[in-house]
Amino acid sequence: MNIIVVSDYEEMSEKASLFFCQAIKENPKLVLGLATGSTPLGLYQRLVKMVQNGQISFRDVTSFNLDEYVGLPADHPQSYRYFMNQNLFSQVDIKLENTFVPSGVAPDLEKECEAYTEKLAKNPQDLQLLGLGSDGHIGFNEPGTSFSSHTHVVRLAECTIRDNSRLFDRIEDVPKEAITIGIQDVMQAKNIIMLVNGSNKAEAVKRMIQGPVDESCPASILQKHPSFTVILDKEAAKLLSGL
Ligand code: GLP
Repeated sequence: MNIIVVSDYEEMSEKASLFFCQAIKENPKLVLGLATGSTPLGLYQRLVKMVQNGQISFRDVTSFNLDEYVGLPADHPQSYRYFMNQNLFSQVDIKLENTFVPSGVAPDLEKECEAYTEKLAKNPQDLQLLGLGSDGHIGFNEPGTSFSSHTHVVRLAECTIRDNSRLFDRIEDVPKEAITIGIQDVMQAKNIIMLVNGSNKAEAVKRMIQGPVDESCPASILQKHPSFTVILDKEAAKLLSGL
């Protein structure tokens, strides 16, 4: 595991953008695993600038998102498909048909999950981006999820609903379920990079890095990944010992 501690959100986003820039330059046909949430916004803004000034191109890049709320269609402003279109896809030269986000409104969600897992298995992520939930979740794999899981429908933890309610008008509007790729689908990525900032994540960071590898902290499995880099700001790193 490669642990990088930086001073703040801006430095974290900058470092991550250089990592992505290099990966896309080395392999223009990169398969990316992408994440939503507040954390990757600074990274996405920098990638957009890099495309605009001709440093990199997403023309031959394929992307797979981690997760989506059940019941929110692509044009719903809180859906993750909408988030990705707004914050990245519509601003870079990626082909929209090469971007994949699980559908939370598919008529048969079980079939949707199976199909997504299959597509991912055929197109393993060269580089997977992750954020971290304050309860240690990755994607929407909540505590207790099996390490051998594939894409599935989850019931969101109360803590996750509370954390994510800041983006909705009312907490009652936050969907109670989501589709997420499984932990095994995350672990198949050749390289994983996680970004974490803020003191509200410090406890989860400590458990992920220095706690036992245990399903009660889904992110702890990343200790076993052969190429895992985590970029933390000082606040998120503050409970780590011996760094
Ligand atoms: C959300 C998403 C995750 C994300 C995490 C952190 O629930 N499902 O993919 O990484 O929680 O979100 P944020 O970056 O907004 O703190």
